[in-house]
Amino acid sequence: MHSLNVALGARSYPIIIGPKLLGDAQYLLPSIRGRQVCVVTNETVAPLYLARLLKGLPGFDKVDVVELPDGESYKTLNTVNRIFDALLEKRHNRTTTLIALGGGVVGDMCGFAAACYQRGVDFIQIPTTLLALVDSSVGGKTGVNHPLGKNMIGAFYQPRLVLADTDTLTTLPGREFSAGIAEVIKYGLICDAPFFLWLEANMDALLQRDTAILAYAVDRCCRDKAAVVASDERESGRRAILNFGHTFGHAIETVQGYGAWLHGEAVAAGMVLALELSRLCGSVDNNLLGRLRSLLRKARLPQRPPAGMTVTDFLQAMALDKKVVNGRLRLVVLKALGEARVAEDTPREKVIDALKNCGVR
Ligand SMILES: NC(=O)c1ccc[n+]([C@@H]2O[C@H](COP(=O)([O-])OP(=O)(O)OC[C@H]3O[C@@H](n4cnc5c(N)ncnc54)[C@H](O)[C@@H]3O)[C@@H](O)[C@H]2O)c1
Ligand SMILES: [Zn+2]
Repeated sequence: MHSLNVALGARSYPIIIGPKLLGDAQYLLPSIRGRQVCVVTNETVAPLYLARLLKGLPGFDKVDVVELPDGESYKTLNTVNRIFDALLEKRHNRTTTLIALGGGVVGDMCGFAAACYQRGVDFIQIPTTLLALVDSSVGGKTGVNHPLGKNMIGAFYQPRLVLADTDTLTTLPGREFSAGIAEVIKYGLICDAPFFLWLEANMDALLQRDTAILAYAVDRCCRDKAAVVASDERESGRRAILNFGHTFGHAIETVQGYGAWLHGEAVAAGMVLALELSRLCGSVDNNLLGRLRSLLRKARLPQRPPAGMTVTDFLQAMALDKKVVNGRLRLVVLKALGEARVAEDTPREKVIDALKNCGVR
């Protein structure tokens, strides 16, 4: 078992990582302050893991379950409203604890509901996808999509605990597992060069979901993310490096329609574009692009944007992205392997060149 602390003063919390954690009351109980609990999950994850989780919640006055429909297309205010309906109908008060059991979609919505319900109640993240274990469950970004843009409605709201049971990944479909690997590779690129080398050496074992290798990788990613978040909780500066590849990736998700490309797949292609942009800015060479492409190929992730998308599609979608500040496009580029910076005003021409060099018409 690995454990670490996300250091955010009064909002600090532990992340516990390892197999066989779900259903073990000793990990959950210390982080639940009241007598009421509401588990938020979805129709896919509930049959797999809900019973195991409930075994770890003995002796509560009230344990309710809200089962949401599955899919990024349901990550909306309407769906969050179903959580509020259940909490009010079942008379949950301000001492209740919400538990998110699922991937990033469930985690983002449950966290947002926790931030809003009675102006804020406790919540716990139990991530069950690789992407959620290494990324979305850590750091307190919560929210939903709007038809005009992804994650446009939300709040910063930290959980009280992240319980990352690596056994849940045994049932994760291969395509979803690969999507999570994109975020794993991201940490190596932006802040952890030794981890990038480790991934080059261990990608096969990771893809086979070797228990020890998996726990090591999850721990390493959570440490990398926790360090970045601790230095800049609300993304006024350094935290933005976590968006490496994401402005391009969000454009892909928005134009293709939520759910057509998985978030991690879009981020994979987005990281290639962001690295090409870094190369055009003169900071990295072709060799690193080749190494990234080869890791993505091994992980069965896209290495280029969708064939149908044009330069105009990208520019329009990127103009709506949250990273546009006062009309200036802020993009994350690499200074070197393991070192990222936010480029405040990237010339449009450079972005267009990067897109074209990666095959976008
Ligand atoms: N909050 C953040 O900081 C942050 C960071 C990155 C991504 N995100 C968000 O996370 C979302 C993507 O998360 P995701 O990739 O986990 O997608 P997801 O939540 O849609 O889960 C992917 C699929 O796997 C299923 N599933 C989940 N756990 C499973 C398991 N153990 N076995 C079998 N099936 C399982 C889900 O039901 C779903 O069908 C996006 O909405 C993205 O915006 C948030
Ligand atoms: Zn992401």
